[in-house]
Amino acid sequence: MRIAFIATLALIIGVIGYAFWPTSADRPTPLPSVGPERGATVFRSYCATCHQITAPDGTKFAGGNAMAGPNLYGVIGRSGGAVEGYRYSSALSAAGADHGLIWTPDTVAAYVQDPTGYLRQITADDRARSKMAFRLRTSTAADDARSVAAYLEQFAAR
Ligand code: HEC
Repeated sequence: MRIAFIATLALIIGVIGYAFWPTSADRPTPLPSVGPERGATVFRSYCATCHQITAPDGTKFAGGNAMAGPNLYGVIGRSGGAVEGYRYSSALSAAGADHGLIWTPDTVAAYVQDPTGYLRQITADDRARSKMAFRLRTSTAADDARSVAAYLEQFAAR
């Protein structure tokens, strides 16, 4: 009798608990680990100290007045070393002008993880050196590089 009562109680508690247990739909969705949203965070954390994203009409999307690196607005689809008035390294200028480097999500992702190594590969010159004194080396660098490239793709010139 008593056991039956306890068992019934346990069953009721179990059913109610199951019904009210928060499901994944109730919990806040975590930020995706790959994609443009994650890329925006990566950009603000690592790239914005040197790069701005400013449209030709003056609209600023990120990076404030950072001047160390070229403006990355419209970088996807553009050839390497092509921002008017920016003084690129000879390596990056050559990569774009003589070796046909076009910035795509893939080439940007490879470049940001090892700028000098990447330019050496493109120019086949093992003394080439990028002026970009930064490598994306987070514990999830490959994903973060793809994400930041996807973020930049949103500012491709149309
Ligand atoms: C310490 C400053 C610095 C940081 C941080 C930095 N960059 Fe750069 N970046 C540069 C400089 C300087 C250049 C020019 C390189 C050259 O001339 O060789 C450059 C060039 C580039 C280019 C080539 C642009 C073109 O017009 O050809 C891309 C793409 C780029 N950076 C993306 C990024 C991304 C994405 C990040 C963040 C993950 C980042 N950079 C972080 C300084 C920086």
